[in-house]
Amino acid sequence: MACSLVAARSYVLAVALLFATTVNSAPAAAQEIRQAPAAAPSTGRAAPPGEPGAPLHVSGVVVDAGGAPVAGASLYAFQTDHEGYYGVKPESDNRNPRLKVFLRSDERGAWAFDTVKPGSYPGTRAPAHIHFQVAAPGHAPRIFEIVFEGDPFVTPEMRRQPGFSVRPIEGGRVTERIVLGPGGSDDN
Ligand SMILES: [Fe+2]
Repeated sequence: MACSLVAARSYVLAVALLFATTVNSAPAAAQEIRQAPAAAPSTGRAAPPGEPGAPLHVSGVVVDAGGAPVAGASLYAFQTDHEGYYGVKPESDNRNPRLKVFLRSDERGAWAFDTVKPGSYPGTRAPAHIHFQVAAPGHAPRIFEIVFEGDPFVTPEMRRQPGFSVRPIEGGRVTERIVLGPGGSDDN
């Protein structure tokens, strides 16, 4: 979604529209999402060492609809800094985020990265979130956001929308199980 302050006020709607686009036109969505290089590692960093904010370790697996691991899935994760800016404050362009990571799931479907907890967009009621774009050959791509349990800006509507995953932070760690349904192209 666009992440200007104005657009942030349409946060839920924007995510809902983005998800609808993904579901209804998977090939087009697959072209829009950013892909990790084929040789990308399964672990990395979205934030550099020393980045201000609360350290956060994000990890999980990519599985298919039957629960089998999906190896080599492309993951692109990006986020704001701890003050809610995508760029160097006051810059905040989510098309060119400063904190991001490109990964490929390993043979067990596993992936992980270190970062800091993002902040809400300044002056908005948008919850802190980490964007994910995930794709694998033969599977429908997924675009969603992790938001965090306990965030006062997480709404009941978000809990019902597949474009959001509401996850707890426990001991500085958050996990996500990414399920890719069938579909998509074979050239991811
Ligand atoms: Fe965002």
